Amino acid sequence: MISLQKLGATVGAEVLGVDRDRFVHDEDLPSACLQALEDNGVLVFRGVHLDDQTQVAFCNRLGDIHRFPTHPIPEISIVSLDPSKSAVAEYLKGTFDWHIDGTTDEVPNMATVLSAHALAEDGGQTEFASTYAAYDLLSPDEQQRYGSLRVLHSFEAHQRRLNPNPSPEVEADWATRPKREHPLVWRHRSGRCSLVLGATASHVVGWDIAPGQKLLEDLLARATAGDRVYRHEWSLGDTVIWDNRGVLHRVCPYDPTSPREMHRTTILGDEAIA
Ligand code: OGA
Ligand code: MN
Repeated sequence: MISLQKLGATVGAEVLGVDRDRFVHDEDLPSACLQALEDNGVLVFRGVHLDDQTQVAFCNRLGDIHRFPTHPIPEISIVSLDPSKSAVAEYLKGTFDWHIDGTTDEVPNMATVLSAHALAEDGGQTEFASTYAAYDLLSPDEQQRYGSLRVLHSFEAHQRRLNPNPSPEVEADWATRPKREHPLVWRHRSGRCSLVLGATASHVVGWDIAPGQKLLEDLLARATAGDRVYRHEWSLGDTVIWDNRGVLHRVCPYDPTSPREMHRTTILGDEAIA
């Protein structure tokens, strides 16, 4: 059993009364968290100060974890804009745009876990919006009209937002990166429906580019309108878990020289977008 306090109208809940010790010893915590994640999209654990080993052990009980063979701890990635801490620091500027983790994978990531090891002086809050709520706010007519659309998601579309005038070398690199087509409306096994949107969404398949991009932008703007967003103000030692099946997220801009450092684990999904 866990005790929850809602943080936003459509997304986010704080998990109360869980300390580091419970992450290690409470046998029922993983299944309670998975249910709470499905219900709330984002779970916040304040000041739990998880070390990497505890974070990885807990995440192993939530599902299968993505492993990076080249990382010192293969299950942990460092989220930092400092190239000496992250080999992908440049691409991480893409986290400033609303996105869903893993949309160019065959099966998107189920959940992402971040723990705060160092904070930004300014900015660096992480924002979340529900993609289930985004579907629910469409009119029945829109749900019907958009229900059969397909959208191309690509690494390139995401990076082009940051770098609209790439060199030929950069463009050639983007062309080798993954692309994947998904339905706009994800009809989940659970019976719920969500919209699959965000920075990787390039265009609506089979439509002229401009009107498709406009529709995707409009839907994203409605999904992430102010009162629909939970903004997490980080304190050291906070751990936040979000559900990529039903949540968009972005980080508020922070300085590239900032000490901000998050330790990230990725829980693999087991349900393709369909
Ligand atoms: C991520 C991400 C946001 C943040 O790790 O996938 O989007 O707040 N991070 O650093
Ligand atoms: Mn992300």
